[in-house]
Amino acid sequence: MNKRFTSVLALAVVLTAGAHRSEADPMTLKDACKDDFLIGAAINRTIATGAADNANRSQEQVEKDIALVKEQFNQISPENDLKWQLIQPREGADGYDFGPADAYVNFGLSNHMYIVGHTLVWHNQTPNWVFAGTNPPPEAINANAGDGLAGRPAGRGFGYGGPRASREELLQRMHDHIATVVGRYKGKVKVWDVVNEAVADNGTNILRNSLWLQIIGPDFIAKAFQYAHEADPDAILRYNDYGLEGASKRHKLITLIRSLQAQGVPVMAIGSQTHVNVSSPSFETEDQALTELATLGLPIHITELDVNGSQGGRRSTGADVANNAATTQGGLVDNANQRLANQYASLFRAFLKHRDSVKVVTLWGVNDGVSWRAGGRPLLFDANDQPKPAFDAVIKEATPQ
Ligand code: G3I
Repeated sequence: MNKRFTSVLALAVVLTAGAHRSEADPMTLKDACKDDFLIGAAINRTIATGAADNANRSQEQVEKDIALVKEQFNQISPENDLKWQLIQPREGADGYDFGPADAYVNFGLSNHMYIVGHTLVWHNQTPNWVFAGTNPPPEAINANAGDGLAGRPAGRGFGYGGPRASREELLQRMHDHIATVVGRYKGKVKVWDVVNEAVADNGTNILRNSLWLQIIGPDFIAKAFQYAHEADPDAILRYNDYGLEGASKRHKLITLIRSLQAQGVPVMAIGSQTHVNVSSPSFETEDQALTELATLGLPIHITELDVNGSQGGRRSTGADVANNAATTQGGLVDNANQRLANQYASLFRAFLKHRDSVKVVTLWGVNDGVSWRAGGRPLLFDANDQPKPAFDAVIKEATPQ
């Protein structure tokens, strides 16, 4: 064999191996996306701690889930354990439960992953004491009421109805929480979802009518970013929301971020959750959304990607767990696996087209078995951690042919 032919052959082998790897050593998501963006998944407590919950996941399944995360992803987000309700269920410096959050951060550190913190200020999964005035009667702490959100489960900050904290009290609690949590993981958690889902879904108001807004006023967002920046000046601070595929909510978000930028608020990245379905958005709609979001001049992170494959999901753009019964009703759409693959291919085509802006893509869960919307089979791996056709579709999009 002459030398030239040998080197051409060697090059061909390298190129082929780069594109497809082999049956024994198949292409992974993190390899396929390595020149484009980080690719990650939200992990739950069983994965972070390695301990089965004995309800949904056996020990054997948890170990397979962990192996899959290590094999496929280079970034993680915490599905629940860094939310206020879980990390600081009680008031004061003694009110923190750091165990599961520490396990999450340590999982990322020991596996050399890019670690996201989710989330500091949200209307959901925030305990009622946060919004309560000093020494309210116990029945007030547990009350739900009055702000149009009554009837939601107690304890999540949806509709606390008792005597309220003053603006100063709530700002102090917000400050202390952010300083403590961001400070604890300084230098380890690289990106924080500082404010989550503050934009209103409907109507003309830009901001959602949350207790944060009602008690503090619209500058609760600026204050949260300011406190987070003080606690870790090197962390990337993100504003995170859903439904940005739709023009009206996206335009509200752009107005909000521009106003924050004009005030010098340190918003450093836009999180677009991207809880979508098999019918929408189209490639053109997603392309348009990313084009408009990129005009803010900030990196875009796709923070909670999943694609609902249920019949009921075709009408939904919300991301509230309370809507799951409606959004997963009617069973899966026909040809669900193929339609899921087509939608994931279309979404990744758009992300890759915008690779100059899109820096992180996070799937909201590791597999269909642990997904918050399991009925919609929305992820790339099935409940047994086996890749679905959607996985192959993503690899194909991300791998130069
Ligand atoms: O912690 C309790 C546990 O003690 C109890 O035994 C169990 C019984 O149901 O409930 C546990 O709490 C659940 C919690 O997840 C932790 O598993 C809540 O009921 C459940 O409502 C909660 O759902 C989470 C949801 O946020 C809450 O809104 C989902 O797992 C999580 O995937 C979802 O994630 C949100 C993002 O944070 C923000 N964007 C939308 C996205 C989807 O809703």
